[in-house]
Amino acid sequence: MLNPYLLMSVFYLAVAVLVALDAALTSFNVIPWAVGLPWLRAHFITLGVLTESAFGVLPAFVAGRRGAETPATRWDIWLLLNAGLVMLLVGIPSVNAALIITGGTLIFAAVLLLIGQLRGIGGEPSRGTGSAKFYLSGLVYLLVGILIGTGLWVGWSEPLRIGVPKEAHIHANSWGFASLVFAGLLVDLLPALTGKPLASRRALGAIFWAMTLGALGLVLGPWLGGNLVVTVPGLVLHLSATVALLILLARALRSHGLFARAGAWHLTLSYAWILLPVLVAPLIILNIGNMPGADIEATAPQALIYGWMGQFLFAILPYFAAAWLLRDPQARLGGNWLSLIAVNLGSALIWAGIFLVDLRNPLHAAAYVLLGAALLAAVREAGVITLAALRRAEQGVARTT
Ligand code: HEM
Repeated sequence: MLNPYLLMSVFYLAVAVLVALDAALTSFNVIPWAVGLPWLRAHFITLGVLTESAFGVLPAFVAGRRGAETPATRWDIWLLLNAGLVMLLVGIPSVNAALIITGGTLIFAAVLLLIGQLRGIGGEPSRGTGSAKFYLSGLVYLLVGILIGTGLWVGWSEPLRIGVPKEAHIHANSWGFASLVFAGLLVDLLPALTGKPLASRRALGAIFWAMTLGALGLVLGPWLGGNLVVTVPGLVLHLSATVALLILLARALRSHGLFARAGAWHLTLSYAWILLPVLVAPLIILNIGNMPGADIEATAPQALIYGWMGQFLFAILPYFAAAWLLRDPQARLGGNWLSLIAVNLGSALIWAGIFLVDLRNPLHAAAYVLLGAALLAAVREAGVITLAALRRAEQGVARTT
């Protein structure tokens, strides 16, 4: 059975190449800036690739690790997620409140149903890797992120008393949803790649709680209008958990010689782009070194999306496509040396453009050319696998008719 979410992820990855190209052309002043395109650029990756992939693999991962049967595709959930996404793709660029609310509500419902599906998976929970709690907690943060995101341009941040809504939205989705789901995926992937668990259950439990509570502080902080009493402990907890996870990951990949291929570097280096804003945050808050706080807040999310989420997905999406679409038992991490250099150099140029104001346009244009090249390499790799799987499915149908 072809996994329909993974097909959609590869599709949105291909669309993301086009909008990266658009960003390069607008930075070179070749075409005018189009309203809503920055939103599309971010969300083709965050919703189109990341969320679709998560919906595609989480039920199978949880069931597989517990020794339960892989659940059949829930087409109701697929429909809600994808219909919601289409509504937002139309509604956000045209700032149409009815479409935005409809889109947000459909995706919210899809996430609720996915949580219900994951909780209902049987088998023996004690046999699992302990990843399910990472997934469930990440999805709860996604619900919070959707609630804030849907209200961002339709004005319900005020009745909900959200002090700094855009930051609260980014924090719930990045530090909450993406961080926790990525951590769960690493917990599930590493045994398949190295034959050993990523860490002891105790260590993983500590990482889980530090990440979950850390994300709570990081969401409540901007929600309460920039409250440092909750933000700072949240930051410290989340940062400690992320660094611990990264050390465990690097050790496991190194001990199995996996750094000989670009995929392991993609996974590990991707974390530089979520750690960097955290390291600069105290300098902005304490006003040290004349940091351009407003420019960092406006631009750094792009490096976070391409450098961290995108890069992590470059490594795991081809793996998922090979494992789930092609049923290849030898599936391995994706990415190549070109995509590795392009995505990291591109993200570095985005940051460079924040500080070198006079060179900002050419630096950002060059960055998006590089990020587009990295995306293209990822699409090529995942696309070849997907087309092979579709061809195989077509031949199977042809044989039976
Ligand atoms: C129903 C789902 C979602 C809705 C309605 C939504 C809505 C929005 C809106 C309205 C903005 C503000 C754009 C602006 O002011 O420039 C935004 C920004 C952002 N969102 Fe979402 N979002 C959703 C899901 C997500 C997810 C799942 C993620 C991450 C995993 C995410 C990450 C971000 C980021 C990083 C930004 C900042 C982009 C930038 O400034 O470049 N969003 N979102």
